Amino acid sequence: NKALISVDREAVVAPINRRIFGSFVEHLGRCVYDGIYEPGHATANEDGFRMDVVDLVRELGSTTIRYPGGNFVSGFRWEDSVGPRDRRPVRRDLAWHSLETNQVGVDEFSRWLKLTGSELMMAVNLGTRGIEAALDLLEYCNHPSGTALSDQRIANGTPEPHDIRMWCLGNEMDGPWQTGYMTADDYGKIAARTAQAMKAADKGLELVVCGSSSSSMPTFGDWERTVLEHTYEHVDFISCHAYYQERGDDLDSYLASSLDMQYFIETVVATADHVGNKLKSKKKIQLSFDEWNIWYLDEHRESDEVNGEWRYAPRQLEDVYSVADAVVLGNLLITLLKNHDRVASASLAQLVNVIAPIMTEPGGDAWRQTTFFPFSVTSRLARGEVLRPRIDVGTYSTEVYGDAPLVDSVVTSDEGAAAVFLVNRGRTPIEVQVDVAQLGVNEITEAVSLFDDDVYAKNTLAEQDRVGLTGLVGATLADGVVTVTLPPVSWSAIALG
Ligand code: AHR
Repeated sequence: NKALISVDREAVVAPINRRIFGSFVEHLGRCVYDGIYEPGHATANEDGFRMDVVDLVRELGSTTIRYPGGNFVSGFRWEDSVGPRDRRPVRRDLAWHSLETNQVGVDEFSRWLKLTGSELMMAVNLGTRGIEAALDLLEYCNHPSGTALSDQRIANGTPEPHDIRMWCLGNEMDGPWQTGYMTADDYGKIAARTAQAMKAADKGLELVVCGSSSSSMPTFGDWERTVLEHTYEHVDFISCHAYYQERGDDLDSYLASSLDMQYFIETVVATADHVGNKLKSKKKIQLSFDEWNIWYLDEHRESDEVNGEWRYAPRQLEDVYSVADAVVLGNLLITLLKNHDRVASASLAQLVNVIAPIMTEPGGDAWRQTTFFPFSVTSRLARGEVLRPRIDVGTYSTEVYGDAPLVDSVVTSDEGAAAVFLVNRGRTPIEVQVDVAQLGVNEITEAVSLFDDDVYAKNTLAEQDRVGLTGLVGATLADGVVTVTLPPVSWSAIALG
């Protein structure tokens, strides 16, 4: 039981664009309110933002942050969320059946992003609104001064433009759950016209058109083709969304979830390139995987979290993640990196409390879920270029994906420094040899792993540090070869210098 991995210095996928480590903050449940924002909290700053959460976001290493939704954006009136806070209206959020107080809007959120050191990726509402509202928001956010809406922003206390480069043209418009959802043809037309108008204001904007909400949507593939036929020359990215969960106690299939993500990416790339070739375009559309994570959606569908009441910041979608979930998440991130030539941007959905790596208790602690660790270590160690390694390894049998490789891996390299990220999907330890001779490295500078005898162990409010990183004992580098034994069901990272 052994895996042989060889790294060819020339097998470059792409230089690392930090946007691959993006995240997502939606006005949903306790992500914003009682999550990043809690004015009464002991660590809150003058804007009401919890600084203990800011510290964890910095440690997580998330870069571009998508905002303010998600399904929420399809009913959002952005004008409600700017100006004097005591005059902002309370509205019903139909997407999550809760009350939106608008105490946090784009101006506050931009100030929060300065604390976390992240870039804002903004979504416009194409569900209940359209071109005019999108253009107004763009003017409010990005125009320097001397127009009605830019001067309004200045009067509201934000003299410098937000200068937001990446904009999403709506959210999941293929989903019947979406407020104002549309056919691909209708959405393609409105998205093209909105994109054209936004680029008339600023041709340097990077626009993301909605792709499919998951690879299991009945319209998957056709949706991308139709939407891109309308929008190809006006947009830069097409979005992909994917959530995974263990179903029916089938851990083996669950651990191979990244095979679905790989299929998803390949299908969207093929479809986008097909449309591009048909249109004789010189341009390539990139993928923005702007929602990806583990989400126990089936369980939430059956729960009573969204009931008849209109509540403020209810506890919604608060999944508590296990070691197995963290291993799958680490593998999904490996897959995104392996496809980084086309997946130029990605957002872990979401950031705080709602299907999130960071949890908080009102008036209390903030802590790291198991899934925090693979993300933060990968974001910290992945530097320079992504290299696609050759992996010779056996397979194991899964119900959903057939035979799946036991080990997956990706490598990054940056002038004398490198990092190898590894997943063992199998139930037994496996010895791995990684030939890194071409990378010009001499020593192991860090070797960590996430695993546990109990693959369902979790961090909770009561036991916040039950699961963490462990040193990868016994990893050696000799004659250009790293030798290591990966624990069963584990995610690992080895930094070399
Ligand atoms: O991230 C949670 C929800 O998942 C988002 O609001 C929506 O876009 C997706 O269905």
